Amino acid sequence: MVLGFPGGGWGFPRVRPRRLRFSGAIRDLVAETSVEPSHLMLPFFVDERLARPVPSNALPGVIVYPPEHEGLVQLVNRALDNKVKSFLVFGIPNRKDSEASRAWSKDGPVQRALRYLRREIGWEPLIATDLCICGYTDHGHCGVPRDTRRGKAIDNDSTLGIYRKIAVSQAEAGSDLIAPSGMMDGQVAAIREALDSEGYSDVGILAYTAKYASSFYGPFRGVMDSAPRFGDRRSYQMDPRNKYEALKEAMLDVQEGADIIMVKPALAYLDVISILKQHIPWVPLAAYSVSGEYLMIEAAAEKGYIDRDSILLEILGSIRRAGADIIITYHALTAAEILNG
Ligand code: PBG
Repeated sequence: MVLGFPGGGWGFPRVRPRRLRFSGAIRDLVAETSVEPSHLMLPFFVDERLARPVPSNALPGVIVYPPEHEGLVQLVNRALDNKVKSFLVFGIPNRKDSEASRAWSKDGPVQRALRYLRREIGWEPLIATDLCICGYTDHGHCGVPRDTRRGKAIDNDSTLGIYRKIAVSQAEAGSDLIAPSGMMDGQVAAIREALDSEGYSDVGILAYTAKYASSFYGPFRGVMDSAPRFGDRRSYQMDPRNKYEALKEAMLDVQEGADIIMVKPALAYLDVISILKQHIPWVPLAAYSVSGEYLMIEAAAEKGYIDRDSILLEILGSIRRAGADIIITYHALTAAEILNG
């Protein structure tokens, strides 16, 4: 790097960084990154046990809806009005069983919500669907447990059979993007194959590529009642100590047909976001700012310790600066409203 200081020393620098900071206009002109409402994806929850919308205790500020309720239409329309056009649906079943049957049933919570929204609003919103079984099974794991010589373990390949069924049923109900979050090996290939063979080659895959075994998911598991009933998720979710391993997961997901890849959580994993964007820049990269991240901001703001709006935009900005194209956040609508003034 060549810096021109003709007089030597610091007396007459030709390069004065502050020239690019003097006004809002020039700061905007030279800004390297931005956060726009169109970069944001709003998750929402539908619970087939509900008759009316209920504010979540586990995730204050988030409302859980019945699958067919006009409140859902209002939420999506309010987001669209604020230029947030993308959504991620999670379903809560009325019954958990060993094969996650409510996850792939034609009248499951996610399927009903999709049909309802397509009927009421159409295809303008992009609606992605989380594909996992932890909230739908009596054991709370993302895969099928089996007795092995090592004791109870999560069986990879029999889980893929269930994932295929869920993917096809979500696509059939109107999903734009299937988002497998279970971290089974080969899940993207299995789902791609199932979608293509059933005629849903237009449905994409948003892969939870580098999903870490994280304590930041705690509040979410409260909403979904999806904490594992035995053991933990460390035999399938990534070890938080690893960064380069995320490249392996990403290479595999891209080879298997992922359209978009993801890092999750976001804030404590900015280095992972950065390395994936640098090494695979042509694949759109999402970052999921998860429930624990959302609540840390909300709780600190409620105590009056921080200014919520400016901290929120700063954190979203840092996730974009690290390299995320897309940010999935429970704050999507809040952030969009702030950005839109
Ligand atoms: C399900 C799933 C989880 C999240 C999204 N999909 C939780 C988990 O793996 O236990 C977490 C989202 C959040 O914390 O906001 N596999």
